[in-house]
Amino acid sequence: MIPAELKQSLKEHIDRVEHPQEMAVDVIFAIQDFYGYMTDEGVQEAADLLNMSALEIEQLATFYTFVYREPVGKYVIHVCDSVVCWMNGYETVWEYLCRKLDIEPGDTTSDGLFTLLKVCCIGYCDRSPAMLINRKAYGHLTAEKIDEILEHLRSEA
Ligand code: FES
Repeated sequence: MIPAELKQSLKEHIDRVEHPQEMAVDVIFAIQDFYGYMTDEGVQEAADLLNMSALEIEQLATFYTFVYREPVGKYVIHVCDSVVCWMNGYETVWEYLCRKLDIEPGDTTSDGLFTLLKVCCIGYCDRSPAMLINRKAYGHLTAEKIDEILEHLRSEA
């Protein structure tokens, strides 16, 4: 169950808008941040707060790339899988990350740190190949740069 303070804060935000549904994505992200992913309990809590059905929340949760209905690692890596990145080394980056993290697409490393996923263009085409980690963009990726980024994140974990 989300803490009472979080629930109260979300209620206050919802009360400020004309239609509670306007806040649906913000509420989902806030609840996801609390649980680490969008749990079934979180879906129901969002539905109750927003006066929506659990099915409507489920539909939103499965539509948005950055809402996770299964547990993910502390750092979620989304590698851009669109045309400009394809032309500029996407495949090398993708294969390197799979090898380096020793996981299959969609999996999480055994230490729970990294989940590896693909995403459509993230608007970083001029710095392709590119990826997001917890929604922060990284571009001009090379094996060396990926090593540096992962080491830095590991040291912060
Ligand atoms: S195609 Fe990869 S960032 Fe646009």
